[in-house]
Amino acid sequence: MKAFETLKGDLSSAKDAAAKKAAAHKTFTPEELIERFPFFTDMSPEQREVLLLHFEVATADPGQRIIRAGEAADLVYFISSGQVEVSVGGKKIRLGPGDYFGEMALLSDKPRSAHVTALDYSRFATLSRRDFLHFLRRYPSINEKIAALAAEREQMNREIPAPSAA
Ligand code: CMP
Repeated sequence: MKAFETLKGDLSSAKDAAAKKAAAHKTFTPEELIERFPFFTDMSPEQREVLLLHFEVATADPGQRIIRAGEAADLVYFISSGQVEVSVGGKKIRLGPGDYFGEMALLSDKPRSAHVTALDYSRFATLSRRDFLHFLRRYPSINEKIAALAAEREQMNREIPAPSAA
């Protein structure tokens, strides 16, 4: 019973904090999170609320470089609005709401694999490296999906021919 009371207390303070943060930064509600990122469906509403507490909001203006290839990585970005362009080996890939980027370097512990530039006024929910890795350890099924997409992206980049040394 005590543990339940404690959990209820934690949840209600988490809810208060999330409501304040949402009001201040207009980040997602748990429902919006699921609508945009279906892979969060496996989480309970309480777990989603706790995850939301770890999100920070970031914004970018059109043309702004968000990630520079080769740099050390600290954040993963979930796109809530706007569009970005990933640029790798001369190939350009557009990502929009519901997509995410910046996960590869965090998963591989390597430098950033590509440039990412905003095409529009864009908003993101970001997670720190520490929170992202902690989250993936906690939710193996989500970890699998994110790792599978990272592997696909890596494979796609390997297939891009290296510029010839002319
Ligand atoms: P990261 O390497 O941390 O930083 C650059 C990001 O661009 C990378 O993580 C991916 O999220 C994204 N990215 C790299 N290659 C591709 C690709 N082929 N398709 C889509 N996104 C990519």
